[in-house]
Amino acid sequence: MDRTFVMVKPDGYARGLVGRIVARFEEKGFKLTDAKVMHLSREHAERHYEHLSAKPFFGELVDFIVSGPVFAMIWEGKDAIKNARALIGATNPSEALVGTIRGDYALDVASNIIHGSDSEESAEREIKLFFH
Ligand code: PPS
Repeated sequence: MDRTFVMVKPDGYARGLVGRIVARFEEKGFKLTDAKVMHLSREHAERHYEHLSAKPFFGELVDFIVSGPVFAMIWEGKDAIKNARALIGATNPSEALVGTIRGDYALDVASNIIHGSDSEESAEREIKLFFH
């Protein structure tokens, strides 16, 4: 069974969206196999986003992700990475379709409430970083 890593970011956690987001994944048919609330250290955040370290928004992204608790999850299901990203919607909420999580709950790319792994390699890397 495929699995993917998903994280409710500090804005989604602070807005009380964890329950609604978990419900959406369950309604789609995914199975939650592990989950926890965490407050990431700067080192952990920089490792999670290390592939983006050359981006101009890297500092802002790290500041944001360590600014409050996150909710880290492992979801299992058929084509988990692809199906989870479809449920999450486009990275920029302005482009995310209504009916997707970002399309329904977010407005701005810098606070887009949720992260989902974008490949099998990143899913395995992120699961290891957050759950081992
Ligand atoms: S890129 O440039 O295509 O590699 O980036 P992208 O895949 O679109 O986004 C990767 C993550 O960076 C976040 N992001 C931003 N954060 C702050 N400010 C700006 N301008 C910005 N643009 C993109 C985006 O939300 C992605 O976060 P994750 O957690 O990976 O979804």
